[in-house]
Amino acid sequence: MKEYKNYSLLGHNTFGMDVKARLYVEYGSEDELKELVPTLSGEVLHIGGGSNLLFKGDYEGTVLHSVIKGIEVADDTTDEILVRVGAGEVWDDFVAWAVEHGYGGVENLSLIPGEVGASAVQNIGAYGVEVKDVLVKAETIDLQSGEKRVFENAACEYAYRQSIFKKELKGRYAITYVTYRLQKQPVLKLDYGNIKAMLGDKDRQTIADVRQAIIDIRNAKLPNPKVQGNAGSFFMNPVVSREKFLSIQKDYPQMPFYEVEGGVKIPAGWMIDQCGWKGKSLGRAAVHDKQALVLVNLGGATSDEILTLCNAICKDVQDKFGIDIHPEVNFI
Ligand code: EPU
Repeated sequence: MKEYKNYSLLGHNTFGMDVKARLYVEYGSEDELKELVPTLSGEVLHIGGGSNLLFKGDYEGTVLHSVIKGIEVADDTTDEILVRVGAGEVWDDFVAWAVEHGYGGVENLSLIPGEVGASAVQNIGAYGVEVKDVLVKAETIDLQSGEKRVFENAACEYAYRQSIFKKELKGRYAITYVTYRLQKQPVLKLDYGNIKAMLGDKDRQTIADVRQAIIDIRNAKLPNPKVQGNAGSFFMNPVVSREKFLSIQKDYPQMPFYEVEGGVKIPAGWMIDQCGWKGKSLGRAAVHDKQALVLVNLGGATSDEILTLCNAICKDVQDKFGIDIHPEVNFI
């Protein structure tokens, strides 16, 4: 276990906010975390790779971070494999491992920043796949009692960018291990956007080809947080009623959309783009010039500058389309 007082979080948030935590604690096993729980007091924030956070200032409580590692095969049948992964593993290292071993299911989620624990909290998703499609269970420790609790997939109450760990049980449980189900005879999922086009016309595509195509698409569209601070998609894509969708579509027949349960999902990035925000800046905060859903720190931006830009965008989208969009990034 490692504990640091007045610890700089600069290396722990991809937006590049230079803030401090009163106490920062890193633990490497469930036993260490159980030992830690009774000593916790005041506010506690559990972070992963810090790729979905915007710190509004110094954090006066305790920041916890898991460095529980390990990728182990928990079960192996003719068709599939169950893999138990430590919450502190980097998500994309796990995806690379799966692809190298020829196990399918997570290749569309290549290059998503963050760690394995957060994948189960956020229900990360991209290119037609969400973590809920492959997650079997999440092992956790109760940050109040120190007891272990295992959440099977259904108990996690997954929905688009949602889970029980972001709602009723927010902040209560720390994820220690996640078990995923992967396929030995992978079925490629190529329906989303331009994946097929990116893959070219090779006869037989593999999950390694898909991973490479997704890496290429992401690198072309999304800013590298190591070069320019950002937290990936800043907003969630709103789901609107069918009636609302049809009335907007009359004015914007080119509008992209996805039919989903409960309505129609409209890409917030497209609406922000239509409002003319793509590539524009306010102070040192800007809208990425290749994907308007992403806000970037041009260097030294304060959280206020990012929030001012966020509010200006939300207002314009509401004025133009009559739709409220909401940040996916957590403000701390
Ligand atoms: N679009 C524009 N202009 C833009 C951005 C998008 O016209 O500036 C249009 C695109 O042309 C496309 C549609 O909007 O027709 C959707 O765009 P894209 O495929 O880039 O996906 P998205 O809905 O904007 C979501 C995820 C991304 C994920 C992609 C691909 C959310 C909040 N974001 O973005 O996730 O990579 O789909 O699956 O759901 C992230 O979470 O950090 C992230 C990057």
